[in-house]
Amino acid sequence: MRRLLIAVVWWPFFLGAARAEENGKPIYQEHCAKCHGSRGDGKGPVGRALDPKPTDFTYAKADDAAWFKVTKFGTKAAGKSDGMEGYGKLLTDDQIRAVLTYCKTFKR
Ligand code: HEC
Repeated sequence: MRRLLIAVVWWPFFLGAARAEENGKPIYQEHCAKCHGSRGDGKGPVGRALDPKPTDFTYAKADDAAWFKVTKFGTKAAGKSDGMEGYGKLLTDDQIRAVLTYCKTFKR
């Protein structure tokens, strides 16, 4: 009984994570793939010319708070290069969280 209760309580969280990943993919392909690569390896057609290079999500260590800040406000606001603009005007906070959930799936 206890186990069933735990399963029922956690189920929405699993569903939520799966949905975020699903919602994040088209956002990623539209806005991020040109730099970070359609496979997340940082080798997108635009990204290739940048220095420093776009983050390679197959290696990068995920940091939810820092990644959110970078994506919303841009790399410069986070004390990095000015290689990436903030998406705060283009994407909602939920969309940013969704796309970052998708970014984490590239990690091998
Ligand atoms: C114009 C190219 C470009 C686009 C488009 C772009 N990025 Fe970036 N991104 C970069 C560069 C360059 C860096 C690394 C900057 C540095 O290290 O100074 C970076 C860094 C990041 C980081 C920081 C990772 C870390 O470990 O600190 C995250 C997260 C990120 N990008 C997410 C995204 C997401 C999500 C999108 C799409 C909504 C996106 N980027 C679109 C160029 C881009």
